[in-house]
Amino acid sequence: MRLTVIGTGFVGVVTSAVFAKFGNQVIGLDIDESKIATLNDGHAPFFEPQLDDLLQEALAAKTLTFTTDYQQAISEAQVIFIAVGTPSAPDGTADLRYVELATKAMAPHLKDGTIVALKSTVPPGTSNKVREILVSNTNKIFYVASLPEFLKEGSAVYDTLNPDRVVIGATEPQVIETLLQLHEPLSGKRIIISPESAQMAKYSANAYLAQRITFINQIANLCEKNGANIQEVIQAIGADARIGNHYWYPGLGYGGSCFPKDVKELAAYARSVGEADSLLVKIDELNDARIFNKMQEFGEAIGGFAGKSIAILGLSFKPNTNDMREAPSLKVIPYLLEQGATITAHDPQAMEEAKALLEGITYAADAYEAAKGAQVIMLLVEWSQLTNLDLRKLKARSNKQCCFIDTRNQYDPKLVVQAGFTYVGIGMKQVRL
Ligand code: UDX
Repeated sequence: MRLTVIGTGFVGVVTSAVFAKFGNQVIGLDIDESKIATLNDGHAPFFEPQLDDLLQEALAAKTLTFTTDYQQAISEAQVIFIAVGTPSAPDGTADLRYVELATKAMAPHLKDGTIVALKSTVPPGTSNKVREILVSNTNKIFYVASLPEFLKEGSAVYDTLNPDRVVIGATEPQVIETLLQLHEPLSGKRIIISPESAQMAKYSANAYLAQRITFINQIANLCEKNGANIQEVIQAIGADARIGNHYWYPGLGYGGSCFPKDVKELAAYARSVGEADSLLVKIDELNDARIFNKMQEFGEAIGGFAGKSIAILGLSFKPNTNDMREAPSLKVIPYLLEQGATITAHDPQAMEEAKALLEGITYAADAYEAAKGAQVIMLLVEWSQLTNLDLRKLKARSNKQCCFIDTRNQYDPKLVVQAGFTYVGIGMKQVRL
């Protein structure tokens, strides 16, 4: 099939590369010339495991090309994916400006029968807006569908090749048939629903996962008050098959490009349809406040951060990505600097990106270098390079008195203490030497 993907962010690039791998003729389209040049060179404009290999294979097989030219990209396309960004507006609603611009720009070049599929996360009702823009700008026959994307950064290629489900939001039988054919090589359940249901499903899935994380963080707070241990609590409640013990490890709250934005957008959407008293608002507030609250508690636990030398391990919003959007480090580090701490930080991939966003700190080549003379070591991201450290070697580099703050509960407190640290985790009592 001839496909065009508009937008070369995570979703756009991965979608382009995966469909090209299956032998479709794919054109990736973006208005950013430097991104297009990088992609045509076989490199994604961001770090994502396996993606460059996939891009290079498809470019070599000539099933994939990238361009800034709408006419070239649209005129032969049978299916056009809209995968542009939908940032939150200041009032929390989704800013659909880029979806609207892309729709307007493609309209004059459409051929009869093209399917325009929305992959960007958009509020229910956006398909109608897209349809209206197209009607005003072309006489050609077209169809609008919604194909929400559920990939996770850091495992985007794997997730796209092995989805749990393929959600097709469409009503016309021939559109459903074409989209089913296109997704044939992918595993996962097929779910065929209306475009509005597909859009609600995407927001609801993210909001549900975000609330699951918020819930466990709330329970972790209670554990800290009464001597219970959150990891033991998770073990016990997770054994209930209705609950399960997956996807709710506690920490400093959720970050990244999706959850914070999608929860806010769904809350704003709820408000716009008269449902202002929404659980989503509370989830968002709790998550926003969490880092500040935890930092205050950590500060109290170690006698304040002022004048302390602190090693920060992990800067990206999660492992296996250099994405800094809503990364905990962006709140934690300014807070610590304000308290009068000195910071040395390390991240396996995101240091270049961090340098553009964080001032007044030193960067180290690895965790052991970051730990030199540190009075506090704070693990922010569970990169595998940071969760298997030689604790004795780390201790030998750090200050005599050093507290290890494990915001992802990755280390066995006993082993950390045996190595000579004081241990502070999430949802459990502090363990002292
Ligand atoms: C998420 C959804 O998982 C994905 O389906 C959707 O398409 C986009 O948003 P992503 O943001 O890439 O994906 O990362 P994810 O691994 O889901 O983590 C999101 C945030 O929640 C991170 O800050 C992570 O650290 C945090 N998290 C995740 C937890 O705190 N605990 C968990 O158990 C899981």
